[in-house]
Amino acid sequence: MTTAIDGLAGGGVDLDIADFDLLNLPDDFVARAYEYFAALRANSPVHRNSDGSFLLTRYDDLVTAYRDTSVWSSDKKIDFRPKFGSSPLYEHHTTSLVFCDPPDHTRIRKLFQAAFTRKALAALTPRIHALVDSYLDRLEDQRGMEVVADFSFRLPMEVVCDMLGVPGDDRELIRDWALLILGALEPVLSEAQFKDGCRAVENFKAYLRDQIKALKDNPSARREGEILSALVAAEEDGEKLTEIELLHQCIFMLNAGHETSTNMLSHGVHEMLRHPAQIALLRAEPGCIETMAEEVLRFQAPIQINNRRALRDTELSGRHIPAGSIVHLMIGAANHDPEQFPAPETFDIARRPNRHLSFGLGIHICAGNTLARIEAEIAFGKLFTRFPSLRLEAPAKLSKRIRFREVTELKVAI
Ligand code: HEM
Repeated sequence: MTTAIDGLAGGGVDLDIADFDLLNLPDDFVARAYEYFAALRANSPVHRNSDGSFLLTRYDDLVTAYRDTSVWSSDKKIDFRPKFGSSPLYEHHTTSLVFCDPPDHTRIRKLFQAAFTRKALAALTPRIHALVDSYLDRLEDQRGMEVVADFSFRLPMEVVCDMLGVPGDDRELIRDWALLILGALEPVLSEAQFKDGCRAVENFKAYLRDQIKALKDNPSARREGEILSALVAAEEDGEKLTEIELLHQCIFMLNAGHETSTNMLSHGVHEMLRHPAQIALLRAEPGCIETMAEEVLRFQAPIQINNRRALRDTELSGRHIPAGSIVHLMIGAANHDPEQFPAPETFDIARRPNRHLSFGLGIHICAGNTLARIEAEIAFGKLFTRFPSLRLEAPAKLSKRIRFREVTELKVAI
């Protein structure tokens, strides 16, 4: 199911949010998300849902929850048991580093750093240039394109599959599994979504076991900087990573690295075309590309919700939060908080400073944030230079998912 977005900007403070409930959202939530956030921030910044969890919408409260790991845990073993039982989805979502606390998190995160060093990313950059050029070459003779399929889906998928050494033919398969596994993180989960998610985890694991076996059988096939090789070496090292941990970090990487960046690219094209003066500004001042990427990330955070559990009684914005409570960190709301961002509903590609929370903050800050920024700068820079007169054919369509702000269709004329 999809919904069209039109009036994203502003307003909303007067919306009645007394009965607002993340588990039973109003039908117009996705289309009017920023209006609901404005009302929540102003009137109920630590808002209780029907299941006892809390929604956080103020920038400062999110920063506190991200930073203070002595109070706020990312470990999901307790939270996911009722939802996932002892299923493959449970195993996956409680093993990947994003849902671990120190010391496990510290150990696993260290292994990831190898794939995200400056050197490793510098080696990927020419490939990103070449991929973007190839997509744009294909558009030269076309009158229009559907941005998600023709542009923004392709690049992040190719890049993250390259990093994990997944061959070209298997990439569609991987995408389907990834969507099913991440889809299971939505606040409300149907029986069919649960079953599909479990099957996807099992299929993904079997697939990766084959890839890993091939690397172990043939060590000369290992490439420096390629993350699967680095993780396999860490597993062989014995104490650093178990086989199950290895499999789930790979699945998580593939999931974390493509859908997020795809939506960043789709939203970026959409927002620029909705704000033609910003395209003119970018053309006049190409150096704005860095701040442009940041503004796209702020304005339409690809991941809208992170979660934490309170390890002890605490307080945020004057409201008591009992130990054991789950909080939903509403990134889109924090990114539009007027206390942090002057004129937050204005899309301004020269905005500075721009300390958005789209990559989170603290020990779990996105490990791929530099890679995502490189992808954005190359993709947007090339697209708007080569096709300066792109225009929207229709407003973007968004899915009803709320953890991800997902563009499902974006038609433009070239
Ligand atoms: C625009 C694109 C992206 C966005 C918006 C994004 C967003 C995020 C956010 C918000 C977190 C923090 C989760 C939390 O604190 O609970 C995170 C973590 C993570 N992301 Fe990204 N991400 C993006 C791209 C990528 C890419 C390209 C990769 C890798 C190829 C990646 C890998 C990771 C990993 C491994 C973590 C877990 C870090 C940890 O727990 O220590 N992400 N991401």
